[in-house]
Amino acid sequence: MKTAAKAQPWWTHAVIYEIYPRSFQDSNGDGIGDLNGVTQRLDYLKELGVDAIWLTPFFPSPNADFGYDVSDYTAVAREYGTMADWDRLTREARKRGIRVMVDLVLNHSSDQHPWFKEARSSRNNPKRDWYVWHDPAPNGGPPTNWESIFGGSTWEYDKPTGQYYYHVFLKEQPDLNWASPGLQKAMHDVARFWLRHGASGFRLDATPYLFEDTNWPQDPDVKSGASVGLKPYNSNLPATRAALRGLRKVVDSFHGDRVLLGENAISSIADLRRVYGAKGDEINLPMDFLYKDVASLNASTFKARIDEAELKLDGFPPVFHFSNHDTPRQWSRFGDGLHNDQIARITSAMTLTLRGTALMYYGEEIGMPDLAPEELRDIPLGAKRKVADNRDPERSPMQWSAGKVAGFTSGDPWLPVGRSAAKVNVANAQADQGSLYHWYARLLQLRKTNAALRDGAYVPLESGNDQVVAYARRDTGGKGVLVLLNMSNQAQTLAIEGFKPGGVLAPGAVLMSSLPGAAADLRHPVLEPFGVRLVAFKGG
Ligand code: GLC
Repeated sequence: MKTAAKAQPWWTHAVIYEIYPRSFQDSNGDGIGDLNGVTQRLDYLKELGVDAIWLTPFFPSPNADFGYDVSDYTAVAREYGTMADWDRLTREARKRGIRVMVDLVLNHSSDQHPWFKEARSSRNNPKRDWYVWHDPAPNGGPPTNWESIFGGSTWEYDKPTGQYYYHVFLKEQPDLNWASPGLQKAMHDVARFWLRHGASGFRLDATPYLFEDTNWPQDPDVKSGASVGLKPYNSNLPATRAALRGLRKVVDSFHGDRVLLGENAISSIADLRRVYGAKGDEINLPMDFLYKDVASLNASTFKARIDEAELKLDGFPPVFHFSNHDTPRQWSRFGDGLHNDQIARITSAMTLTLRGTALMYYGEEIGMPDLAPEELRDIPLGAKRKVADNRDPERSPMQWSAGKVAGFTSGDPWLPVGRSAAKVNVANAQADQGSLYHWYARLLQLRKTNAALRDGAYVPLESGNDQVVAYARRDTGGKGVLVLLNMSNQAQTLAIEGFKPGGVLAPGAVLMSSLPGAAADLRHPVLEPFGVRLVAFKGG
């Protein structure tokens, strides 16, 4: 008897759409996006064709780092709504086949979290070891010379108890001590809380930093200014692996293929491979920052990044994306000011036709740009804003329609709406069949329905032209899709080596093209400047 192959979990080829809830849709006129706003826009997301949404933190927080300083892990901040709103959001999303993922900030809490208040109340408090404390150096100064990612020392002196506490980010974000069994259990309980409340999984914040080298070495480089970020003493310590496996077990104990999506800064493909776990038992979906951080539209660099993700991750699904709430939008990063729309078609076609899972950032589907420096305005949150300042450009309100507030709010938006909203908005994009929005929607549809794009192998190709990225996806039945991406502003002619398909798959061999009516030439294609082709073929 034939046994049915085990279905792949939903997340192996999903598109997860990141929403910064503060900026997506305001439902009550206070100028701040909220959970009910997201619920209102679920039909939009369904029509676009995404599988899941990941919401950045919406928990109570003093907002020193806009929600990434959590003061209560199991509640909804008043500005975003209530638990009842959350439950409704997940219910309504489920009806539309959309899963909802929560951002779990594991590495640190807010200094206003009751855990930290207890921990700092005395050296003998039972929660003292939920955070990382150290006696002063012999001269009374900080125990080490380490610098925090957001600038300044990683140590903050706590006068009443005479010790320093450690924070790899802001001093308002004391690091949690994952070596403490009590803390680990508390964080597992947080995960269980959201899983019981319908979360389909978590985006894990800043996972490399869970443990520190407790020999507390000095940093020899600190004066060179090269000290911020991944360091052997502050990141990827061996104990991190076991802690993530522990969390994975909790998540796997729930039915329904719940998933962990990791924000795991890495410096090599070997690092990325490790994050999946030796037996695939750590993070299901570690983000590929090597691909995300490619600085310019360069075909050779992209080809190298894609090939290594395909060849060196032992078949685990890579996680491709470009933008998020910490990174300038790809429209602004890759755009040359003249061909931005075409370039956006290249980056989206590439990310969405590869194997694995793709992330999108709200607004990329309409080509939303970053706010220009002159569009920013100072918001009176005082000292609390220092870090968030330079990430405001990519966090501006979603542009739903033309007009001053772009349909985002009926009030005064917390961050300015981009001036581009007059032209770049959902209403305009939906009305124009040739828009980037419809390009994305077609890509998302094709990604789901074309067997080669959905489940097929990745076939690296040599395009014979270093301006063009070429690869194919091929299913086991011998049907495939050839993907050609011209990353230059010149027309390019190709001779694809070692690729001998039986022919194009008629009718409709050209599945998508940036040039309407382009021919389906497999052997010697010609691509216009910044041209994209997806061509269906058979055999070979
Ligand atoms: C992650 C988040 C970022 C936050 C930082 C500290 O990198 O994406 O927004 O500031 O962690 O929590």
